[in-house]
Amino acid sequence: MCGIVGYVGNRPALGIVLDGLRRLEYRGYDSAGVAIVDRALLTEKRAGKLANLEKAVADGGGAGLGDGTTGIGHTRWATHGGPTDRNAHPHRSQDGRVAVIHNGIIENFGRLRAELESRGVEFTSDTDSECAAHLLAEELAALGDAQAPQERLAEAMRRVCRRLDGAFTLLAVDVQAPGAVVGARRNSPLVVGRGRGENYLASDVSAFIEHTREAVELGQDQVVLITADAIEITDFDGNPAQGHDYHIDWDSRAAEKGGYDYFMLKEIAEQPQAIADTLRGRLSETGEITLDEVRLSDQDLRDVDKVFIVACGTAYHAGMVAKYAIEHWTRIPCEVELASEFRYRDPVLDRSTLVVAISQSGETMDTLMALRHAKEQKARVLAICNTNGSTIPRESDAVLYTHGGPEIAVASTKAFLTQLVACYLVGLHLAQVRGVMYADEVAAVVEQLRGTPSKVNKVLEQMEPVRELSRDLASSRSVLFIGRHVGYPVALEGALKLKELAYMHAEGFAAGELKHGPIALIEQGTPVVCVVPSARGRGVLRDKVVSNIQEVRARGARTVVIAEEGDDAVAAYADHLILVPPTPTLLAPLVTTVPLQVLACEIAAARGHDVDQPRNLAKSVTVE
Ligand code: F6R
Repeated sequence: MCGIVGYVGNRPALGIVLDGLRRLEYRGYDSAGVAIVDRALLTEKRAGKLANLEKAVADGGGAGLGDGTTGIGHTRWATHGGPTDRNAHPHRSQDGRVAVIHNGIIENFGRLRAELESRGVEFTSDTDSECAAHLLAEELAALGDAQAPQERLAEAMRRVCRRLDGAFTLLAVDVQAPGAVVGARRNSPLVVGRGRGENYLASDVSAFIEHTREAVELGQDQVVLITADAIEITDFDGNPAQGHDYHIDWDSRAAEKGGYDYFMLKEIAEQPQAIADTLRGRLSETGEITLDEVRLSDQDLRDVDKVFIVACGTAYHAGMVAKYAIEHWTRIPCEVELASEFRYRDPVLDRSTLVVAISQSGETMDTLMALRHAKEQKARVLAICNTNGSTIPRESDAVLYTHGGPEIAVASTKAFLTQLVACYLVGLHLAQVRGVMYADEVAAVVEQLRGTPSKVNKVLEQMEPVRELSRDLASSRSVLFIGRHVGYPVALEGALKLKELAYMHAEGFAAGELKHGPIALIEQGTPVVCVVPSARGRGVLRDKVVSNIQEVRARGARTVVIAEEGDDAVAAYADHLILVPPTPTLLAPLVTTVPLQVLACEIAAARGHDVDQPRNLAKSVTVE
C-alpha cells in the first residue's frame, strides 16, 4: 500500500525516482509525487495515475525539478483524505524546508494536528501524513546548528517517530541537508538498496532492482540515513542498529511485462514454472520435506494439537484448501480464519497451537496483527510467504517461502498456486514429523505435485474457448460460482477475481448451500460456473455437484462446467464445458483455478478495465 522511493547518489535523481515509482505503482495508484533537492527543495505532485505526474513533469520541461542527485517519490493508495492533488505526497513543512512521504496510518494524527494548529501551523491537506512534515520541521528548528545537517535530520526523524502511533514508513529530505535521505519504519515495509556511490530506499526491491541486487533489510522501529557512500541505521532512540544484508536472486526482467499485454497474463503463464520452483529441493535425500527457516523443534510440531490458518483474500482461499489437506493427512483439527477477524474473537490458543500465516507480500497488516496476537498467546507461528525478508516471515518461528518471483498485477494468480503448493508441503511435513505418513507416502504426493506444472501448461494451451466465452459473458449482470470440498474455495477465488477485475457482481457458493437461499438469485441466462470434482476421488461428491448443476439449470442458468477429462457424462449438463487434466482430488485446485483466472482477466479486458491496476485496490495492504 503506497509505494515509496528514495535516492542519493551522483546521477540526477528525478529519472531514477520516477522509474522506481513506475515499478511500485501496483502498490497504489490514485496520486503520485516527487521531491528533489537541488539547492532548493522542488516538488511536483498530481492526482491520478503516475502518468499524470510524468506529464506534469514533462510539461514543466523536467528542468522545473532540476537535476539534483537527491530525491524521494511516492505513489499513493488513499487512507486519510481523497485522491486529490493537495492530498498527494510529498507534504512540505510550512517553512518549505522539508518534504515527507508516508505509507501507513498515523493513528494519533488528530491530536498532533490540533497541537500543531494551536502553534499556528496551517495545514494544506486532509492527510495524517502532513503532521510528520510539520513535526520534522519543528524538531529541526529545535535542534539548531549543534550537529552536522545530515545527523540533525536523522535525529529530528527519531524524535518525530517517538511521537507517532500507528504504522508508518516515512522518508524525508531537508533542503539544508542535501545529499541525504532519512527513512523510518514501524509496521510498514522499507528496504535499502546498496549501490556504488549511490544508495536507495524503497517499499520493495523492485524499485531499484535495475540498479543493484544488494539489499539491506531493516528491523522494526528503525531509522536509516542514506548518503551516496553510507547507510547508517539506528533505533528510534539513536542506538546503532544492524540491518540484514541479502542478495536479490531475481533480476529486473522478472518485473517487466515481457511481451504480454498485462502483468496478470504474464503471471498466469508463469504458473507452471512458479510451481516447479516452489517444489524444487523440498524433498531431501532421506525423504524429508524441508522448510526454509525452522526455529521449532520436531517435538514442538509433534505437540501441535490444533492448527489455525490466518490469511486474507486470495491467500485465505489457499488456506481453505489447505484445511482439507492438513486434516486429511495429519488428522489434526484445522481452522481457517480471516486474519482481520481472528484476534477480535479471542481464539483459544496456547503453546500447542500452530498458526499458519499465508501472505504473498509478507506485509499484510491484518495477517501480521493476527500473527502477533497468536505469538502473545504463546502459539507457534509458521509463515508461507513470497517475499524474502518481509515482516511476516521475520516474526515467525518457521518459514516456507514460495518461489513465485515478483507478482506485480494486483490480482493474485501465481502467488495463489504457489501458496497451495506450500500448504501441501506444510501438511506433508506435519504428517511426517508426527509419524502419521510414511516417507514413501509423502514422496508419492510430492511426485504427484511435480506432475502439476505440465497439467497447468496443458490447461493454458487450451484457453482459446475460454477467451471467446469471456467476451460473451462480458455483458452479464452477475456470475455465480459453485463447488464442493476443495472446489468450494476455488469457486470463491473465481468470484473474487471477477469482482476485483471486472467490477461485476460475482459470488462463490458451496454447491450444496444454494438450495438454502442463493438459488433465488438465478434468472433465465444467469451464468453459473460449476467446479466438478473428479469421479475418481469420492464419486459421491462428484455426483452431488452434478445434481446441483441440474438444479440451477432447471431454473434457467447458463452453466459453465469445469470437469476432468474423461468425465464424459457431465457434458450433458454443460452449456460450456472446460476440461482439465486428471489430478488427485486434494491437488485439483492447482488446475481448476486456472481457467477462472483467465476468465476474469479476459472479461475485465473486454469491459475495458485496467487489468493490472483495478480501481480502489492496491497490491500490498499495509493498513488494518
Ligand atoms: C486478490 C488479492 C488479495 C490478496 C490479499 C492478501 O487477488 O490479491 O485478496 O490475496 O490482499 O495479500 P497477501 O497475500 O500479500 O497477504
